[in-house]
Amino acid sequence: MKKNIELLYALSHEEKTGYKLPYTEITQDYVNESLPNDWVRKELFLPNVSEVEVARHFFNLSKLNYGVEDGMYPLGSCTMKYNPKMNEHVAQYDGFQKTHPLQADNTVSGNLFLLFDLEDMLCEITGMDAFTLSPAAGAHGEFTGILLIRKYFEDKGEADTRTIILIPESAHGTNPASAVAAGFDVEEIKSTATGEVDLDSLREKLSDKVAGIMLTNPNTTGMFESNIKEIAALLHENGSLLYYDGANLNAILGIARPGDMGFDIVHLNIHKTFSTPHGGGGPGAGPVGVKEHLISYLPEPIIGIEDDSIELPDMDIEEKLYRMNRMDKSIGRIRLTDSSFSVLVKAYAYILTLGEEHIHEVGENAVLNANYIKAMLKDFLYSPIALPCMHECVLSASKLENGITALDISKRLMDYGFHPPTNYFPLIIPEALMIEPTETETKEEMDRFITAMKTIVRESKENPALLKSAPTNTPIRRTNDTKAAKDLDIAYKRR
Ligand SMILES: Cc1ncc(COP(=O)(O)O)c(C=O)c1O
Repeated sequence: MKKNIELLYALSHEEKTGYKLPYTEITQDYVNESLPNDWVRKELFLPNVSEVEVARHFFNLSKLNYGVEDGMYPLGSCTMKYNPKMNEHVAQYDGFQKTHPLQADNTVSGNLFLLFDLEDMLCEITGMDAFTLSPAAGAHGEFTGILLIRKYFEDKGEADTRTIILIPESAHGTNPASAVAAGFDVEEIKSTATGEVDLDSLREKLSDKVAGIMLTNPNTTGMFESNIKEIAALLHENGSLLYYDGANLNAILGIARPGDMGFDIVHLNIHKTFSTPHGGGGPGAGPVGVKEHLISYLPEPIIGIEDDSIELPDMDIEEKLYRMNRMDKSIGRIRLTDSSFSVLVKAYAYILTLGEEHIHEVGENAVLNANYIKAMLKDFLYSPIALPCMHECVLSASKLENGITALDISKRLMDYGFHPPTNYFPLIIPEALMIEPTETETKEEMDRFITAMKTIVRESKENPALLKSAPTNTPIRRTNDTKAAKDLDIAYKRR
C-alpha cells in the first residue's frame, strides 16, 4: 500500500512532544515586561509530534524526490551532473565549514587564499584577466555582467545612447530578463537553420545604440557558433561589448576559451561546469570574469594583497597589487556576504582533482555522450539539426503521431525511472526535447535511457492513451503545469 505522507500538522496532538527544552530562569512574566508587547507572540504555531514521526516524515519525503543519484538526469541546459563526494568532503573541513561570512579577514587568510587561487584558475580556464566570485548564481552573474556594461558606457559618457542589448532568439530566458532588469532594451537576432547567429540579422541590428550582445557558445541548440570571431569583430568595430553566458562552458572546458573568442565578460555557472550543487538559483555561485578594460568596474569586495612582503605560492604579487589598485570605479556590492564560499570550495576541489592534465576530458566526454544518444535516437525522434552536436542534443516530438507531444514523452519517461529532459526549449525548435547526459553518465545508464525512449516512441503509436495519462507510477500524477506556474500558492494554511 502506498504511504500517504501527511503534513506534520496533521499528525500533531497536544499530548505529543519530540523535544525537551533546558531549564531557564527567564520566565514568561520577565519576557512580557522586558519586550514591547507587539514583539511577543501569543502562540507559536508548531506541530506537536514525536521524534520518530519527524524522522519518518522527512525520510519518506526525501524518497519522493528524484536526484542525480537516483539515475540519469538529462535536463539539457540546466546540466545536472554528478557532484563527486570528494568535493563535499573537502568543503566540510572545519577550517572551511566553521567560519562565519562576517569573520575578520585576518582570521580567514587561508580561505581568502583559496578564493584568490580560484580566481587565477578561472582566468586561466576562460582566458579572462580578472574575476569576481560574488554572484550567487548564473542569472545573478548575468545581472552583474550587464551592470558592468552599463558602468563602462557611463564612464565613456555613452550611457544615454548605448541602450540596446542584442540577444539571439535561441537564448535562455534569463538573458533578456537580466538585460531589462539592468535598464537596457532588448532586440532579438534571428538564428540560422542550425541554430547559430544569423550574421545578416546581426548586421542589420548593429548601430551606435548597441551596448553589447549576450551569447552562449555552444549555443542552446548544442551547436558551436562557428562565426564567433567574425561576430566579435563586428561588435568591437561597432564599439560594443560581448557578453558570454557560460552555461555551456562545460562543453569546451580545457579546449577553447571565451577570452580567446573575443568575449569581454563571462559568467560561469559553477554547478554546470564544476560539479557543485545548483542551489535553485542561489545560494550557488556564478563568478564573473572580465578583460583588462573592465577590471576597475568589478563589484566589491575584491580579494587582494595590501603588502608585497607577503609570499604566496605561484602568485604574481605585482599583478594582484595592480588589480587592487585599479578598483576605483566599482559598481559596488551586489550581495550582503562576499560569496557562496562552500560552493566555491567544491569547485576548487573539482578543478584540482582533474588538474591541467585531465580537465579537457570533461568536455570531450560530455560531447561524446550527447552524440551517442543523438545517434541512437535519430531514427526514432525527429532530429532538426543533422550535424553532430556539442554537449547536448535537441530532438523533437513534432513528427510523432496521435497528437503526442514532448510533454507526453517526458511524463512517460518518469514511469521508467528517469528525470525528463528539458522541454520546449530552445523556443526555436517546436516540441523540443533537449537532452544533456553530461560526461558523468556511463554507457550502461545511457543505454537504459535510450531503450526507455525507444519503448515510449513505440507506445506513442500502439497505445497513445497510455502516454496521455502518464505518469502512472509516480507519487503524484500529471499536474496542471500552467496553474502551478501562474497560481503559485505554497504556504500551509491553518484550517
Ligand atoms: C543558457 C543558460 N543561461 C543562464 C542560465 C541561468 O543560470 P542559473 O540557473 O545558474 O541562474 C541557465 C540555467 O539553466 C542557462 O541554461
